[in-house]
Amino acid sequence: MASRLPKSLSPADGGARLAQLIGAADRIVVFTGAGVSTDCGIPDFRSPGGQWSNNMPISFQDFVASADARREAWRRKFAMQPFFDAATATTVHESPAHAAIRALNDTGRVSAIITQNIDNLHQASGIPAERVIELHGNGSYATCLDCSERHELDDIRRAFEETGDPPACSACGGIVKTATVSFGQPMPRAQMRRALGETLASDLFIALGSSLVVMPAAELPAIAKQNGAALVIVNNEATGLDALADLAIRGDIGETFACWMQSRADRGANI
Ligand code: APR
Ligand code: ZN
Repeated sequence: MASRLPKSLSPADGGARLAQLIGAADRIVVFTGAGVSTDCGIPDFRSPGGQWSNNMPISFQDFVASADARREAWRRKFAMQPFFDAATATTVHESPAHAAIRALNDTGRVSAIITQNIDNLHQASGIPAERVIELHGNGSYATCLDCSERHELDDIRRAFEETGDPPACSACGGIVKTATVSFGQPMPRAQMRRALGETLASDLFIALGSSLVVMPAAELPAIAKQNGAALVIVNNEATGLDALADLAIRGDIGETFACWMQSRADRGANI
């Protein structure tokens, strides 16, 4: 009986197959999770020491119902903000994971980068904003839940540090929340519709740095596969979709793409 390939390979053993799948693809979707930002200094959520190891998520219902929940959500937001600011300003430009995504984008065959991340780092790393589909919103600004007025974080932080009170909308007095999607909050329809369209049109779907446990975002890799695309998963930990993937690489994103990027640089070709 032919020996079955182990369902996940190391970056070294998976590199040649990865290069082959990229070279053969006409329309690539890159799907990202918090694991693409850990090398920028932003902890992910479910790894040991991740953001959920010290805090439980605050649901959208609790955020709307309770001023204390809003106060805690803003406290957490501003406690994490220095990590995001440093990543945006410097570390994203040294991030091997974001360099790999930029190299994929430079092939000219990536139609969309569908991200669960709210850190705005794909845009900060040089990916055109119109190519990024943010399923869980963007934490670099805030909006009013009632009138959708945009509010800047610096203004909110100044007032919050002075009064300790969660912000109210300057235009209508409504509740102000970062422009992210919390558990229990409806997903953004337009972004979901666009992400599904790109997924169905892709012939290679590459999932990077996600535990693939949060729905409906994590349904997209399986939808791509069921629709005939090749599925690649690169992640430090096993995911529930590894067995479905054409190639599952268990390891660091930067390390996984390093030799493909080098061979591309050596040939100077858009492979
Ligand atoms: N290379 C490869 N994998 C990595 C790296 C790296 N450099 N760094 C972290 N990882 C892996 C971790 O092993 C982990 O399995 O990335 C995965 C990140 O998984 P999560 O922390 O669960 O993050 P994510 O999948 O993006 O979570 C989805 O859950 O909490 C909500 O809204 C939040 O968008 C988030 C969603
Ligand atoms: Zn308002």
